[in-house]
Amino acid sequence: MLRCVATPRVAPQPAPEYATCGGRLTQRDLMTLVCRACGAAYLVVREVPSVIPSSSALAYDLDVEGVQSSYAYQFAPWLIPGPVERWASVVRPRVKSHDPDPGQMSGMEGVSPSSQGHRNGLDEALDTLFSTTGLAEEFYQRITSICSQVLHPGGAALDVGCGLGRMTLEMARCGAGVAIGVDVSLRLTHEAARLARARAPVDVGLTLATGKSIAAKLALGGPIDCDFVTANAQWLPFESESFDLVLALNLVDRVPDPMQAVKEAARVLKRGGHVLVSDPYDWQERHTPRDRWVDDLSELVDREALQVVGEWDGLPMVLRRSARQMMIHLNHSVLYRKR
Ligand SMILES: C[S@@+](CC[C@H](N)C(=O)[O-])C[C@H]1O[C@@H](n2cnc3c(N)ncnc32)[C@H](O)[C@@H]1O
Ligand SMILES: [Zn+2]
Repeated sequence: MLRCVATPRVAPQPAPEYATCGGRLTQRDLMTLVCRACGAAYLVVREVPSVIPSSSALAYDLDVEGVQSSYAYQFAPWLIPGPVERWASVVRPRVKSHDPDPGQMSGMEGVSPSSQGHRNGLDEALDTLFSTTGLAEEFYQRITSICSQVLHPGGAALDVGCGLGRMTLEMARCGAGVAIGVDVSLRLTHEAARLARARAPVDVGLTLATGKSIAAKLALGGPIDCDFVTANAQWLPFESESFDLVLALNLVDRVPDPMQAVKEAARVLKRGGHVLVSDPYDWQERHTPRDRWVDDLSELVDREALQVVGEWDGLPMVLRRSARQMMIHLNHSVLYRKR
């Protein structure tokens, strides 16, 4: 059951920054949800509701390239490349290097060109790609294993800042009765829903270094029973105490108010439920004002409400920035239980 995130019209006015109407949303027609309390309307497009406060609507979305680069790290094992040469061009640097002409090497004694030149470069690049996507996999598999230990069969799970929904899908596969992914990006929630519902491999684009994209297919073996909602982590459109497990992975350093995002995750969690927060503290002023940057999740958490039950430091997390740029983060991950 979704709830209204419109600013309340009743006193006190002006309403506090994160106050919401909280009224229940009911379906008016195929494409509209309406708040019973204040009448606010929210669009549902292709079964993905968009429940965003009007003040924060469209404040953030990814471009197509951003979405495309997510396939390669969130779903690397399920990508089916096109013709091999074209696939290789996504992952291999396209340097037209060759062994230097010995005649031009005067003055460069001591610099020994590799005997295979270009080929070695390509092989190295491929090794890098597969070891880094391997690390991306390791991250999701470690997180999945933590989830499977705390999520009881049929439990309700929420993935806040889900991106393309890799962990939303994993929670559904772990036996969650309800698995919902939330992201503020319309493009991502719609693409996540398309991937999860597909009965056959879906066409995706992968970004080349030039910004052009090439075709590939992604086969998740679905459909997978999960839902996606476009919403802002700082105003979650859910009743308090609705979920048994909430994930906030690589999210807190992407929101304007990290403490509010963690507070919302804790609010929608049932008593005795778990919230897993994992973050690389990759702070950037374009996402979060500097005075809200922290170097320990404990600074964001109300320890009266949440008790630490597990902590992992240094879990590698890889983001593929572009064809030639992989970023390896060492995440700090904490599992909390709501008292
Ligand atoms: C680095 S990605 C992490 C994706 C996924 N959780 C993972 O670990 O693979 C951060 C995600 O947070 C989303 N995001 C950023 N600000 C948000 C907000 N205020 N509310 C909800 N999602 C947000 C972005 O759209 C993006 O998908
Ligand atoms: Zn309302």
